[in-house]
Amino acid sequence: MKTLVLYYSYGGNTRRIAEQIQQALNCDIAEIATVTPYTGSYDDVVNQGQREADSGFEPPVRPLDKNPGEYDTVILGTPVWWHTFAPAVKTVLSACDWSGKTIYPFATNGGWIGHTFKDIERTCAGAAVKNGLNIRFDEDSLQTSTAHIDRWIAQIKEG
Ligand SMILES: Cc1cc2nc3c(=O)[nH]c(=O)nc-3n(C[C@H](O)[C@H](O)[C@H](O)COP(=O)(O)O)c2cc1C
Repeated sequence: MKTLVLYYSYGGNTRRIAEQIQQALNCDIAEIATVTPYTGSYDDVVNQGQREADSGFEPPVRPLDKNPGEYDTVILGTPVWWHTFAPAVKTVLSACDWSGKTIYPFATNGGWIGHTFKDIERTCAGAAVKNGLNIRFDEDSLQTSTAHIDRWIAQIKEG
């Protein structure tokens, strides 16, 4: 079984969890990055994110280091932006053929995960989307217990 951790992170929280999962599973990892970085204050980014999420905007992203098409299992990490996955993740999810793949989603957020996992399921037609991991941060301080995260990683190992 070939496994890829695929993630987007604006502020580093999702990257931190993605790297933890990659190390535990000893699998490949690829980061989604926008061609044009988000700039301005945190509030500017929050507002831009709202405009993008509301309009369904798909920002251009840099070529990925790894091709998700070559993996059976994709562990997909995103921050929650306005109750759903980040626009940069949308760009990649829309561009790939997910049929026959297994996706384990995780989403870092400040307590309002919204419909993030449902939206991933809807967008990745044909994929088996497993139960998602909701990871809460207070700014950059992890609130979800590491035991909870470890258990979620363990069930991926068990397949
Ligand atoms: C544009 C934007 C929108 C956000 N919307 C939400 C939200 O709807 N619900 C929530 O709980 N947190 C929201 N947050 C907080 C982030 O989900 C949270 O800080 C996350 O861990 C950031 O991950 P990152 O450091 O990998 O970018 C938002 C943050 C940004 C920048």
